[in-house]
Amino acid sequence: MSQLVRFGVSIEEKLLKQFDSLIEERSYVNRSEAVRDLIRGALVERECTKGNAPTVATVTIVYDHHTRDLSDKLNNHQHSHHDSIVSALHVHLDKHHCLEVVVIRGTPAEIRHIADGLIGAKGVVHGKLVFSTLGHGLA
Ligand code: NI
Repeated sequence: MSQLVRFGVSIEEKLLKQFDSLIEERSYVNRSEAVRDLIRGALVERECTKGNAPTVATVTIVYDHHTRDLSDKLNNHQHSHHDSIVSALHVHLDKHHCLEVVVIRGTPAEIRHIADGLIGAKGVVHGKLVFSTLGHGLA
């Protein structure tokens, strides 16, 4: 682990109280760990949204499998990109709704293209793309 450096932060009292409340809710040990996590999150976001370096992401979608042709469309789209899709998890949430989590590897542009085809399909009621990182360069 690299050497720790201390730095001061000026912040409005009200904002700090809200931050402390968040820290407690999320069970952080202290403010420093919470701030480090925020910084890492911002760096991951930056790393993943620009450039062409290979990265990894998950796409989570929820949809009604009775929606006409939707299951086939989602399935066909995933088969068209089988080289980039590492894994897919399907959960039957209730009688109508399915949840899928798809793990994708590729460049940010490739991942976005695949995610857009899933999240943007007509009948998908909720969708979220979350980029992650292989962690190179992060402390
Ligand atoms: Ni299902």
